[in-house]
Amino acid sequence: MSDLEALKKEAALRAVALVQSGMRVGLGTGSTAKYAIEELGRKLASGELSGIVGVATSEASDSLARQVGVPVEPFDPRPLDLAIDGADEIDPDLNLIKGLGGALLREKLTEVQARRFVVIADHTKLVTRLGEKAPLPVEITRFGFLSTIERLRAQGLGGRLRQPGAQPYVTDNGNYIFDAQLPEHFEAAELERQLKGTLGVVETGFFLGMAERAFVAAPDGVREVVP
Ligand code: A5P
Repeated sequence: MSDLEALKKEAALRAVALVQSGMRVGLGTGSTAKYAIEELGRKLASGELSGIVGVATSEASDSLARQVGVPVEPFDPRPLDLAIDGADEIDPDLNLIKGLGGALLREKLTEVQARRFVVIADHTKLVTRLGEKAPLPVEITRFGFLSTIERLRAQGLGGRLRQPGAQPYVTDNGNYIFDAQLPEHFEAAELERQLKGTLGVVETGFFLGMAERAFVAAPDGVREVVP
């Protein structure tokens, strides 16, 4: 395991330590959340935890959870006790950019419903302002996507349709993603409102004011960040 992977795992283990038997837990998506799901499976198998129910934020996390023995239930309106997920950028106020893994819509739906949303990451995800390193993923409908992208560009947003190969990337919800380059100066809540009001936009990767804390692992230890 590389040093960075070891850090991601360390952060994940700190968050899973908050899980108690009988909890309903939101299962994040991505290479860091994967360690949390595996750790939940390990704790259930060893008897350290029992009666956990997972609610997955993607098809990939659903299938990983089943593989490692974490019972999964479909998403429904009941609150979750805790959600654990990674992030692409974390600012000093614990506002996030998420969605480079493509699961932003289900992640936001799930995590907004959690009593506690805990972020896990390695130190490379810390930024002084959102958009410093990562684009902002914007989920858009497939129908009319070129018109939607024109509307986004007209608002001054650069960026590109996510297209890893010959075809555009398709989310679990059957949508496309526009990876927007954020301008140097913007107000995140205002931009979020503007984007959500743009025809064809389903959801953005801004997760503002949602996280309760983050466990951020660096070579000198795991830091607990609160807003
Ligand atoms: C998935 O859509 C994302 O929001 C992930 O949570 C985020 O991209 C972090 O992923 P990694 O842990 O793989 O960096």
